Amino acid sequence: MADLMEDPISGTTAAQGASKKAFPRKVRVVPESLKKFREIHEQAAAGGPPEKIAAQKAKGKLTARERIAYLVDEGSFQELGLLMETRCTDFGIKDKHIKGDGVITGFGTINGRHTAIFSEDFTQLGGSLGRTHADKISKLMDMAADARIPVIGILDSGGARIQEGVDSLDGYGEIFYRNTKYSGIVPQISVILGPCAGGAVYSPALTDFVFMVKGISNMFVTGPEVVKSATGEEVDFETLGGSMTHASKSGVCHFVANSEQDCFRQVKELMGFLPQNRFEKPPTQATKDPDDRKIALLEKLCEVDPRKPYRVNHIIWWLADDHKLLEVHHDFAKNIVIGFIRLGGQVVGVIANNPAHMAGALDINASDKAARFIRFLNSFNIPILTLVDVPGYWPGVAQEHGGIIRHGAKLLYAYSEATVPKVTLVLRKAYGGAYIAMSSKLMGGDINFSLPSAEIAVMGPRGAVEILYSRQIKEAKEEDREALRAKLASEYSGKFASPYQTASTGSIDEVIEPSHSRGRLISAFRMLIGKRRPGENERTGNIPL
Ligand code: HXC
Repeated sequence: MADLMEDPISGTTAAQGASKKAFPRKVRVVPESLKKFREIHEQAAAGGPPEKIAAQKAKGKLTARERIAYLVDEGSFQELGLLMETRCTDFGIKDKHIKGDGVITGFGTINGRHTAIFSEDFTQLGGSLGRTHADKISKLMDMAADARIPVIGILDSGGARIQEGVDSLDGYGEIFYRNTKYSGIVPQISVILGPCAGGAVYSPALTDFVFMVKGISNMFVTGPEVVKSATGEEVDFETLGGSMTHASKSGVCHFVANSEQDCFRQVKELMGFLPQNRFEKPPTQATKDPDDRKIALLEKLCEVDPRKPYRVNHIIWWLADDHKLLEVHHDFAKNIVIGFIRLGGQVVGVIANNPAHMAGALDINASDKAARFIRFLNSFNIPILTLVDVPGYWPGVAQEHGGIIRHGAKLLYAYSEATVPKVTLVLRKAYGGAYIAMSSKLMGGDINFSLPSAEIAVMGPRGAVEILYSRQIKEAKEEDREALRAKLASEYSGKFASPYQTASTGSIDEVIEPSHSRGRLISAFRMLIGKRRPGENERTGNIPL
């Protein structure tokens, strides 16, 4: 029987090992299998040919592996499928033996929290998506959904791999299906870091948040060349699908960064506000900022002319813990501000009319922007704070023909559907349909506060007197009309343009001392922390609106 103390590799016993003679100094021979393993891994991990990597660097881009290293906690990434290759034999691509098939997939931690990550490698066949590439991403998404952890995709891809024909289109089908199936179950984030075309833009559009980097990221269904041959339009990459185009015009992009490093910092910041999945609550964070910190700015707001514009961001900064707001969609539909803050340590999603742009009125883009964000918040147990200062819906032929009725209805739907805690504070104006839309009490607002200076009415005083007293105004002498208008408007304001009539019917729960707003909001959200409503356990997907 072998000595139990015998080392199974060297064959020496503990007693022999104690003597120096038992370990004569000799060169260690690395076994063949280990050598081969290391060689394969080194070659696979190197990525594309050196000239392609150099071209990538020349554009100011990181490699696919460097990107993962920036994102995850050091040493935490565990790769899966490094050795997978294409099964396609056409165009000689199988003979290239591209290990990993142009995408790195695996798991890592971000600030200690597990996350699934894939990173496409533009230096390998332009990061194009073949069937194996797609299978790797799909498998990762399935595992992430099972493990209930977020998925971050880093995209740098020319879209469906032309050499693989319909097989690559089917690969995108698999991914779109999973983007949708897992929407509202685990957060999905897309980081666009290259010229992304075709399927490489539609999958991100199905995810919750899209990040782009100035001068590096492009998104388009078809590139400038195809546009020129199809429509005759001449357009460059940046104008057609650069970061600012998608951040300010199309609304496809939620966050813009100045560099890849800055982009990963922003991704991590966002992740800090999100739960891992729809079954958890977002992470709380202790703060030294006192709950009852007084806000003089809100007192000042009561004094100013109701038509005076101001940036609502200032009010959000004053309300939030440590004055921190992570704004989403900063450059799109600036008439409404959305983002994440903490109140008393608890994550809250904020939706606020912004009088600095279009007087804070609601239009098509603002409705879409807010409605989708509300649906995201509701999917992931994030309470909603609504700050109201809205003169109504933006009027005009372009809005009507563009479908403001259809788009505005999304906002009504999203607020009514949301079962997370909803607290509303009317800052100043809340008129007509827009008053109802902005999380009013009868649309399911849990607690609705108002400042004393708020004007809650069917419409503003000027508009109202033109309708109510049109005959009297017409019959008055021309020179007396303006004074009559002003007198009637003042009477109207006295009766309706205050929060008291609304408070008397219970549609405002309480008119509050402006400087105490932070404390009142924190108490309200704390009280609502255990809120449950029928239907809450049903999944709500975050459909792109
Ligand atoms: C195979 C591709 C590829 C693709 C790029 N490459 N796109 N290979 N399939 N779809 C390869 C190039 O041949 C080249 O290989 C390398 O990647 C780098 O590409 P370049 O053109 O040299 O780079 P650049 O000038 O930066 O232009 C990048 C690009 C352009 C804008 C992405 O390559 C391009 O327009 N590609 C096609 C985009 C496209 O139409 N995709 C199909 C979409 S259809 P070598 O060997 O020369 O280095 C789709 C279906 C989904 O995705 C359906 C959605 C509903």
